[in-house]
Amino acid sequence: MTRVSEAADSTELAGEQFATLLRPGDVVLLSGPLGAGKTTFVRGLARGLGVRERATSPTFTMVREHRCHNDLGVTTLHHADVYRVRSLDEVVDLALGELVEEGAVAVVEWGELAAAVFGEDVVTVNIEVVTEESRRIEVGGAGVGDRAEAFARWAS
Ligand SMILES: Nc1ncnc2c1ncn2[C@@H]1O[C@H](COP(=O)(O)OP(=O)(O)OP(=O)(O)O)[C@@H](O)[C@H]1O
Ligand SMILES: [Mg+2]
Repeated sequence: MTRVSEAADSTELAGEQFATLLRPGDVVLLSGPLGAGKTTFVRGLARGLGVRERATSPTFTMVREHRCHNDLGVTTLHHADVYRVRSLDEVVDLALGELVEEGAVAVVEWGELAAAVFGEDVVTVNIEVVTEESRRIEVGGAGVGDRAEAFARWAS
């Protein structure tokens, strides 16, 4: 399920619309090179979950927590960036997998580096840089489950 974005704004919109398909307990692993647009996507995703403040890059804090206001049952967004982790133990210590059991969603930038911590039941979002302004945003992962049709609509 791939959606093309030709500008930062449309990546943000893709994230915002993606958010409406999320459920409490979802773990979303974002991958893509430096400057691909992972944080841009999460900024839209946060808006879609009804986060009132602007989501900024958690690169140095590793994880930021946002209160959500939506009808999806998602109360909290945990936005992590594991680019700087030196060992998977640090990711385990963040306990994101446990936090999502309390009505939260976790979104992890550079999530592929920590995929082993989260197991199979994750939604993956890969952002491929095509040109300076163009991106291919691909959604997959076992966590999509019975939402494949909805994500296909999101992509089209
Ligand atoms: N179609 C696009 N989608 C997203 N960002 C775009 C697009 N076109 C240009 N950009 C620019 O690319 C940059 C993306 O930055 P962003 O911080 O979102 O990337 P990132 O993947 O989170 O990087 P990092 O790996 O450093 O965390 C922004 O400067 C944005 O304006
Ligand atoms: Mg980022």
